[in-house]
Amino acid sequence: MTEIAKLGYVGVESPDHAEWRTWAPETFACMLGPDGADGAVRIKIDDADYRLSVHPGREHRLAYVGWEVLDHRDLDSLEARLEKAGAGPRRADRALCEARGVQELVTFTDLYGQPYEAFCYQSSGYRDWDPPRPHQGFVTGDQGLGHVVFVVPDAKEASEWHTDVLGFRTTDIIRLNPPLGDMWFLRSNPRHHSIAFLQMDGMLGLHHIYLECNSLDDVGYAYYDVLGGDQNPDLLMRLGRHIGDQTVSFYIHNPAGFFIEYGWDGLPIPETEARSPRYIDVTEGKRAEMWGHHFVMQPNETVRPYRR
Ligand SMILES: [Fe+2]
Repeated sequence: MTEIAKLGYVGVESPDHAEWRTWAPETFACMLGPDGADGAVRIKIDDADYRLSVHPGREHRLAYVGWEVLDHRDLDSLEARLEKAGAGPRRADRALCEARGVQELVTFTDLYGQPYEAFCYQSSGYRDWDPPRPHQGFVTGDQGLGHVVFVVPDAKEASEWHTDVLGFRTTDIIRLNPPLGDMWFLRSNPRHHSIAFLQMDGMLGLHHIYLECNSLDDVGYAYYDVLGGDQNPDLLMRLGRHIGDQTVSFYIHNPAGFFIEYGWDGLPIPETEARSPRYIDVTEGKRAEMWGHHFVMQPNETVRPYRR
């Protein structure tokens, strides 16, 4: 079965897109790639030309999630499977491929109509990591950009679709306190999850994107020395370590309306491991985090009511 190899890039739209030009380099030591033709701010964290693209738009909105396959033959067979699944695959023309900076591209939608893309051969410079402050770089390579987490009306249904159609495997299922339902974590490479689903009845949208640092010091420096630590008003979760992927991280609201998780030391899952998913219950009275990750309520402008 053809499998998505990794998360390649994510595009969002926002009326405040221009804020990303200074926010991302100052907060996370990201580089800027060349702007998109529409003025999109391009965020670079490794030798790929960009990993996040923040386009001008009238509202905060997910524009596309780019899933990378290993070569054009994988793209051909994935396209056939998407056709069968009714996901509406379309070959992108030259102009769209150029806009994305890839050689071949197929657009489609997931089971809820969210805008997905599968691509191969992303443009990249060679070893041109030159961050705006000293920084030891990000974990990408065979693990891709990081991970995306979506709020969905039914996490099990979303996971089944992504497993059946895109070839993901389930790593963990975590039981949360009501009104939240189970959270499903899916992988396509050694990263613990490239995508996860947080169940909220009747809601849909982008919850967060995870960027993983090579060094704990870069997470701590961003948290304490740039953001001012626990009292920063934009934090969604303070510094802590997860019980599932065991990442040390924090979450912060960004100018495009969703959250960025910035962390270190995610648990890799060996490709060869015949691993059945763990079911982890973190409801009231049970351990929900290894430590920290205290929650602060924040708005998420990309999550909206969803009707079938
Ligand atoms: Fe995450």
